[in-house]
Amino acid sequence: MERVIEVIKQIPIFEELSTESLQKIIDTGNIIKYKKDDIILIENDEGSSLFWILQGRVKIVRMSEDGKEVILNVLSEDDFFGEMSVLDGYTRSASVIAMDNSELFIIRRNTFLKLLSEHPDITIKIIQTLSKRLRRANLKIKALSIGNSEQKVGAVLLQFALDYGKYFGDTVEIRNLPIQQEIAKMAGTSRETVSRVMSSMQKKGIIEYDNDFAKILNFQRFRTAYK
Ligand code: CMP
Repeated sequence: MERVIEVIKQIPIFEELSTESLQKIIDTGNIIKYKKDDIILIENDEGSSLFWILQGRVKIVRMSEDGKEVILNVLSEDDFFGEMSVLDGYTRSASVIAMDNSELFIIRRNTFLKLLSEHPDITIKIIQTLSKRLRRANLKIKALSIGNSEQKVGAVLLQFALDYGKYFGDTVEIRNLPIQQEIAKMAGTSRETVSRVMSSMQKKGIIEYDNDFAKILNFQRFRTAYK
């Protein structure tokens, strides 16, 4: 149990909680491990729990009518998901699939709602995260509806830079970039198009990349171009 408290305390949103409050959360939650490609949640299922990512990455996906996977987002360590059904009582809005071997902490609906009512600071942090996700979604809607291929791929790279990038002056490095097939599923385009656009960006000196590593060379300009 000591280990569980230590692990849960590492989640930034919980860092201010007393050991007693943490203990209450832990008593009603549990840690579960998933293997890469395991399905964690299925769209339209009933939902009564919320998940915190302790380790690994997950993708949030919806299936199109013709069975194509559309990736809405990729979440990683310290992110949470499953809050939508928990808060509004409707079924799961998307499926969630493990991209790596992952470890998740699962909290039951009632524990989460009680936590929100007793700790306004946590409620505010949750709302801030949801606002950030809405901004990202707006960015993508714009690129998908009016953008060309370069803008679509640029918007996805910008999202990764903002969420996971490490800043070195005006250069931003992104590690663990998903494979081009997955970027394509996020950008609403094909893998071939992602490959062509990224290689053209590299030739123009906008980015450098190699497998799952990418570097944006002039981030302010990149952000203005693809936001
Ligand atoms: P819920 O609807 O309960 O189950 C699926 C979860 O995926 C959802 O809660 C959110 O936590 C998450 N989710 C859905 N859409 C997005 C999105 N655009 N960005 C990030 N997470 C999302």
